[in-house]
Amino acid sequence: MKITHTTQDMEKYKGDMITYFVHQQGKKVPVCDNKFVQDTVKLAFKAGDFSGKEGETLLFYPSGQGKLPAKRVLVIGLGKAEEGKSNNGATPSDVWRDNYRRAGGKVSETARKTRTEKILVVVPASFILDKQETIECISEGLILGAYQFRKYKKTKEEDETPGTIKEILLFTEKANKAVLQGLNRGKNAALAGCAARDMANEPGNVWTPTRFAEFGRKLARTYNFTCKVLSKTDMLRFKMGGILGVNSGSAQPPKMVILEYRTAPRNPTLLLVGKGLTFDSGGISLKPPKGMEEMKFDMCGGAAVLGAMQAIGEEKPKNINIVAIVPATENLPGPSALKPGDIITIYGGKTIEVVNTDAEGRLILADALAYGIKQYKPKAVVDLATLTGAVIIGLGHHRTGLLSNDDELARKILAAGDRCGEPLWRLPLGPEYSKQIKSKVADIKNVGNRAAGTITAAAFLQEFVGETAWAHLDIAGTAYNFTDKPYTTQNGPSGIGVRTLLELVRKWK
Ligand code: BES
Ligand code: MN
Ligand code: ZN
Repeated sequence: MKITHTTQDMEKYKGDMITYFVHQQGKKVPVCDNKFVQDTVKLAFKAGDFSGKEGETLLFYPSGQGKLPAKRVLVIGLGKAEEGKSNNGATPSDVWRDNYRRAGGKVSETARKTRTEKILVVVPASFILDKQETIECISEGLILGAYQFRKYKKTKEEDETPGTIKEILLFTEKANKAVLQGLNRGKNAALAGCAARDMANEPGNVWTPTRFAEFGRKLARTYNFTCKVLSKTDMLRFKMGGILGVNSGSAQPPKMVILEYRTAPRNPTLLLVGKGLTFDSGGISLKPPKGMEEMKFDMCGGAAVLGAMQAIGEEKPKNINIVAIVPATENLPGPSALKPGDIITIYGGKTIEVVNTDAEGRLILADALAYGIKQYKPKAVVDLATLTGAVIIGLGHHRTGLLSNDDELARKILAAGDRCGEPLWRLPLGPEYSKQIKSKVADIKNVGNRAAGTITAAAFLQEFVGETAWAHLDIAGTAYNFTDKPYTTQNGPSGIGVRTLLELVRKWK
């Protein structure tokens, strides 16, 4: 799909659909720039069908009436202009940003339903956001909302809907730097999110640890990153007992993918770590069959980190060095698999009693965190992982769980998530939780009891970050089946975390 900007007379647009955004005006008719569209909006309003409420759509066919040559006209409601109150930490501007994103998503959703291929989107003036942000958010919503994964659908069904969007033009009266920059930012962020969705949509037999390594190398070639891929031999040499232990039941070789984006040595380093578990069967502590196919999504943390690196490669932020690490393996119950009761040693020497082989994410992350911190001495570390089912019980599919040993870093991440429509909620850490993972036979064990499962998982990771400022994002509830919005794919991967990380980097310092 192509998305570009235009200033050409929109009323002459001959494509498949022209779209306008309008605000709800209480008891009055919503106002639209175009007089002809306004007449129809008025009729729809009088009929009680359309008031400009957030998420409402009005679709009609102007052909023959001679006013607009486009095949379809779509009017999208944005809600009341004075609405957009702060909400659970999100500012009014954050709320509007997501409103525009959802509106963009609604355009794509409607276009796909009607099998519209070419769209002209008339960018509205916002009451709160500037032009750049308006365009940024609308284009993000358009691109994320147009996403589809049809690679393995080889036979075309007769009445196949939805269709595929081919071209989107964004119309503004003038083209200036703000307009183009807004489009660029939105595009970068959304395409990186789509890249993460693509990795996650690939099945476990295709998206193996080796594929993670290949993707990392490709990013490095494209954007001039340094890429190192630790092999099993390297892991043995480094005594990375966590990832090696988890990998021992699998026939696929493990990989630890490391990308370095370097500016100047005096700049601080941010370390990003993403769980790249390409399929989680639970291992010997085997999961029940129902829904197990979803465990191909257990690599979404790794996908988010590499997706973010793609956007970082495009934008090349100054004043920051970024290192990304993705520990990648399957968790399968092969003949030499890790067993409950086994004791393993993580990079750096801490010993772990493995009580449950299904708590594998923390084992591979422990090696990656300990190694990354030792090797790169980062100013801050952020890890993303589909780590616990418990976070879904606590926060549902609407918010990512955030746990951190640093209030400043936590605040930055909460703000970044709110700005990009990927909200998080912070949970506590503390010695009372860490106590739950004390072991009788090793330094710690890999599971506590049932209570506070998300927190004890984070408490486990905390053992490997020392004094470094660190934040952990538990995305088990948001990486797929993410909260219902027009630009998120239900039943599919959301690409969560990519835009939060990008926003964090854009706003760094
Ligand atoms: N990958 C799972 C967590 C998960 C659950 C992700 C549901 C997405 C949806 C993780 O490896 C896991 O199995 N966690 C266990 C931990 C338990 C054994 C302490 C869990 O949450 O049940
Ligand atoms: Mn597991
Ligand atoms: Zn897992």
